[in-house]
Amino acid sequence: MTKAVRMMQENMKLIDLVIELVDARIPYSSKNPDIDRLAAGKSRILLLNKADLASAQANGQWAEFFRNKGVFVQELNAKNGDGIKAMDALVREACKKKRLRDEKRGIVNRPVRAMVAGIPNVGKSTFINALAGRACAKTGNKPGVTKGKQWIRLSKGLELLDTPGILWPRFEDARAGMYLALVGSMNDETLLLEDLACDLLECLKEVSPGAVSQRYSVSDSLRGQETLGEIAKSRGCLGKGETLDYRKAAGILLEDFRSGRLGRITLELPKGNG
Ligand code: G4P
Repeated sequence: MTKAVRMMQENMKLIDLVIELVDARIPYSSKNPDIDRLAAGKSRILLLNKADLASAQANGQWAEFFRNKGVFVQELNAKNGDGIKAMDALVREACKKKRLRDEKRGIVNRPVRAMVAGIPNVGKSTFINALAGRACAKTGNKPGVTKGKQWIRLSKGLELLDTPGILWPRFEDARAGMYLALVGSMNDETLLLEDLACDLLECLKEVSPGAVSQRYSVSDSLRGQETLGEIAKSRGCLGKGETLDYRKAAGILLEDFRSGRLGRITLELPKGNG
C-alpha cells in the first residue's frame, strides 16, 4: 500500500465529512474509483471544480447526474471563489444525519470535521485556501488526535484538516488516462506532446467544433499533424533552419486549452459515463 493511501485511511478515522473535488471538464475520469469504499459511512460532498473552464451547460448536466444519485454536489471555481458561499449550507445539508444522530446521543454543537480529497492538481489547495481565506484559524494539535495534524476552524460548526487527501484517478482506463493528460494532471515531461495535441484536436472536433479554427485561423478539415503545422506557421514556431517546430505548437495548443483560451470545454458528458 502506498504512503498516500495509508495516510488517507488514517485520516478517514478522524473525520465526518469527505469533500471530494473532481475536474468539471472530466468529472468521470478525474473521480477516484475507490472513494465509495474508502469513505464508507462518511458524509460526502462532491465539488465540480474548475467549473469556469468547463461548459456551463455540461456543468449543469453533471450536477444533475450526481444529484440524481443522491450526491450533494456544487459547481465551483476555487480560483476566484465562485461557489464558495454555498458551502456552508451544503455542509449542513450533507451532515444532517450526523447532527441528528449526535443530538439523539445528547451531543450538541460538536463541529463537523472534514477532509478535502481529490487527484493531484484538481485544485485541493486552492479550495482550502479559498475556504480558509474567509476565517482562517489553525486550531493546532488536538488532544487524542494524531500528533502533527492541523485543523483549520472555518466556523463554529466546521473544522477542516489542513492537508488534503491525495487520491488516484482511473489509470486503468486508457481514455481516462488521455483526458487526465489533456487537462494537465499528469507530468507533461513524460508525455509525447505532439501525440497528445493530436488527441486533443480529435476530441475538440467532437466536443467543440470550430474552437481551433477560430483561434488560429486554420481550416477545420485538416488532420492533426497538418493542423499543428498550420498553428506553428501562424504562431511563428520555427526550429533550426526555419523548419516548423511541431512540439512548440503542440505546447501552445495544450496551454490554450488548459487555460480556457479555446473556450469553456467539457471533454466528457454523463451519458455513457454512469
Ligand atoms: P492540488 O492541491 O489539488 O494539487 O491543486 P492546486 O490547488 O495546486 O491547483 C492546481 C492548479 O489549478 C493551480 O494552477 C490552480 O490555480 C488551478 N485551479 C484550482 N482551482 C481552479 C479553478 O476552479 N479554476 C481554474 N481556472 N483554475 C483552478 P497553477 O497553474 O498550478 O497555479 P497558478 O499559476 O494558478 O497559481
